[in-house]
Amino acid sequence: MSKSEYKVASYAIIGFGNIGKALAKKFARSGIEVSVSTTRNPESFASDAAAIGPGIIPTTLAEAVKADVIFLAVRFESHPDVAKTLPTWQGKIIVDVTNAYGVSPEKLGGQPSARFVAQAFTDGKLVKGFNHLIAAIIDQDPAVHGGRRVVFLASDDDGASAEIGALAKKLGFSPIQLGGLSEGGLLVQAHGNSWGQLIFKDLVKFD
Ligand SMILES: NC(=O)c1ccc[n+]([C@@H]2O[C@H](COP(=O)([O-])OP(=O)(O)OC[C@H]3O[C@@H](n4cnc5c(N)ncnc54)[C@H](OP(=O)(O)O)[C@@H]3O)[C@@H](O)[C@H]2O)c1
Repeated sequence: MSKSEYKVASYAIIGFGNIGKALAKKFARSGIEVSVSTTRNPESFASDAAAIGPGIIPTTLAEAVKADVIFLAVRFESHPDVAKTLPTWQGKIIVDVTNAYGVSPEKLGGQPSARFVAQAFTDGKLVKGFNHLIAAIIDQDPAVHGGRRVVFLASDDDGASAEIGALAKKLGFSPIQLGGLSEGGLLVQAHGNSWGQLIFKDLVKFD
């Protein structure tokens, strides 16, 4: 076995808001170190990170993007700002947790939002996932009713989706592979008030 096959992946979460913090708690619970970053100086959110656990490392965006696997937990509108921090994302997996709420199909060029995001991260391997669960649910123990809470994953790169599937299992979830971004990505894409009714039905009242 080559040396690179022994290499342990490094992880980062870009965005330390509702969903970023909920994901960080899952990493902490599983004993997996992860760096977290925002647009702000890491000192400004160091106490929030420390409250989650010692393995949650506050850092700058420039440092965070050095990780092998990067969770994109920013508002959809902010993804181009993150994408432009590196000229190439070759060799990296970007886990797109964003929901393109209120973004018109025209703005997306008629593409699934995940494909649109993937294009911004030149040469990166994008896996769409974890986006159908609200932060309050990710916060909870994924072991429920004798089973594991599901996360849906979609990617055009089978290796990348398998790697994130394995990580999802370590984080306590049960991954379901939905296929490529155009098919699977579209299945878990947020759109309007009708999306996610089954998921949100106990939490949100729809018209
Ligand atoms: N909330 C949920 O339950 C939920 C569930 C599923 C998916 N999502 C999706 O997850 C994404 C984040 O949602 P959220 O509710 O966590 O949002 P949020 O609470 O507003 O947090 C956004 C985070 O992104 C950071 N950020 C913004 N621009 C950035 C940049 N250019 N570089 C680095 N960090 C940046 C912000 O940091 P600053 O303080 O520096 O601005 C903040 O920490 C959205 O796309 C949302 O649709 C949310």
